[in-house]
Amino acid sequence: MGSGIFITFEGIDGSGKSSQARLLAEQLKADGKQLVLTREPGGSEGAEEIRRLLVEGAPDRWSAETEILLFTAARRDHLEKTIEPALRAGKIVVSDRFADSTRVYQGVARADLRGVVDALHEQMIGREPDLTFIIDMEPKTALARGLARGSGEDRFEELGLEFQIALRRGFLALATDFPARCHLINGARDMDEIAAEIRQITSDALTT
Ligand code: TMP
Repeated sequence: MGSGIFITFEGIDGSGKSSQARLLAEQLKADGKQLVLTREPGGSEGAEEIRRLLVEGAPDRWSAETEILLFTAARRDHLEKTIEPALRAGKIVVSDRFADSTRVYQGVARADLRGVVDALHEQMIGREPDLTFIIDMEPKTALARGLARGSGEDRFEELGLEFQIALRRGFLALATDFPARCHLINGARDMDEIAAEIRQITSDALTT
């Protein structure tokens, strides 16, 4: 693997992580960095096709086990086609979600399958980000925000508030599982204030 840096954003639905990923990418580009902004599920042609299967339709459309396989298939394609080539070229990759989402959504909140998620990750993905921002948000506010978007990609939001509460707990635990790379960010603040904190942590990481 080359010398690029892999940064991910994680959090519950409606936490504001996508906006923060975009703001960081814009800032780094303005600073003259070579950068790829991407997302999961998706981020490559094949993975974007798999995305539609996952985020649209009835909440009970897939079991947690099938979801793990589909998210991992999408991730493998994303890794091969987008992430690894960019990192090899020395670029910064900023991804809106990555493997931590599967650990928490399918491994903890949907079902108790963290062992399966970790085993498949090790075999098929085998890469962790260098830096992860977990945007922490009160689930009720975040859920209202997510559903208000009416994006037609609400399959997970439709699982309700209890699900979002379990997700938040899962993400908080994740931050303690991977303390070296995970930064817990208070998302209940002004967007610019959050962006400034993320920018600071990133520039510290880039200079060390
Ligand atoms: P997004 O809304 O951040 O684009 O993500 C789409 C949905 O997919 C979101 O509800 C979270 C969910 N998801 C998982 O359940 N597991 C995963 O591994 C990923 C990447 C996303």
